[in-house]
Amino acid sequence: MSKLVLSNITKSFGAFEAVKDFSLELQKGEFVSLLGPSGCGKTTTLRMIAGFMPPTSGTIELDGQTISTPSGVVPPEKRRMSMIFQSYAIWPNMTVGENVGFGLQVRKLAGAEIDRRVDRILDVVQMRGLRGRYPAELSGGQQQRVALARAIVVEPEVLLLDEPLSNLDANLREEMRFEIRRLHDEFKITTVYVTHDQSEAMVTSDRIVVMNKGRIEQVDAPHVLYGRPKSRFVAGFIGRTNFLAGRRQGSDVLFEGFSAATSLLEGANGTGELLYSLRPQAIGLAAQKPNGGALAVEAEIAGRSYLGEYWDYQARPLGAAKPLRVSTGPNTVFEIGSRVWLEIDPAAMVRVE
Ligand SMILES: Nc1ncnc2c1ncn2[C@@H]1O[C@H](COP(=O)(O)OP(=O)(O)OP(=O)(O)O)[C@@H](O)[C@H]1O
Ligand SMILES: [Mg+2]
Repeated sequence: MSKLVLSNITKSFGAFEAVKDFSLELQKGEFVSLLGPSGCGKTTTLRMIAGFMPPTSGTIELDGQTISTPSGVVPPEKRRMSMIFQSYAIWPNMTVGENVGFGLQVRKLAGAEIDRRVDRILDVVQMRGLRGRYPAELSGGQQQRVALARAIVVEPEVLLLDEPLSNLDANLREEMRFEIRRLHDEFKITTVYVTHDQSEAMVTSDRIVVMNKGRIEQVDAPHVLYGRPKSRFVAGFIGRTNFLAGRRQGSDVLFEGFSAATSLLEGANGTGELLYSLRPQAIGLAAQKPNGGALAVEAEIAGRSYLGEYWDYQARPLGAAKPLRVSTGPNTVFEIGSRVWLEIDPAAMVRVE
């Protein structure tokens, strides 16, 4: 039995449909992210899971029990879920220990038991030494750890996190991603994590739901989403990519500046425009014409940026107007204007709609 099941969920605000026909099953202990641009319906979906509003149509089940329908919802406090809101707040007038213990007090646990559990969870988030501090005496990352500890200490069946790292600076955000995944590996709480940051979703999640305009575009493990995006939207949203538009002619597909046999390409039997996604690091760059199975395309270096960890080249196939982006290691150096050979493996070209 799946832990959390959303079936054909729709949410309308007046005539506007914020979430459209959303279906998803989470297994027990699974960590799933909702990823998508601002306004695509992530928070609305999470709020329905938490029970703050009913769906306009569809149902939500937890452990086989229906908890949301258009005509009634089990209220948030009866759902055994914890939620950290987009603009998270911990109570400024309570110490770290009081913040974290509050949910246990509400559940009327004995004082000694509360103390024990609060200490344990503060150990896990490395905040035990700061138990007596007030929020104003903590850094942003420390406050975030308190918010996480407070959500986890009550041992929820489901943890709902809405952009919990959005208030932090870039370095701290990166550190906290690993922290969140580590906490998940320790407690195995079924988690729905909302973010518009693709690397955050990739580091933390077992599966990612990519949303666009209220709809699910694709649900897959991070490496599948990256390697096998199904739509133009997903290919462009997860990582950088080149879009190559081709047209079939006989047994070849003609792209700008090169062609490939249909037998080497996935999904090349359609008619009309055939669109492919090709990642910059899937293209090889060489001074001499390569002799291997890959397609060899002569090109000119039209531009380049040095990013420290890699080079980001713009290489224009001869006869094409538009350059392709190509990533190479930091030691592969080509001057602007020089002639190069692109090595394109047709198997790395992913057909997208
Ligand atoms: N109570 C409401 N009344 C009317 N429209 C709403 C309401 N809540 C959300 N919306 C609209 O629904 C759409 C989805 O909103 P939602 O908050 O779910 O987006 P989001 O994906 O969480 O975006 P962000 O990344 O900016 O937080 C938006 O266009 C928003 O304006
Ligand atoms: Mg939101």
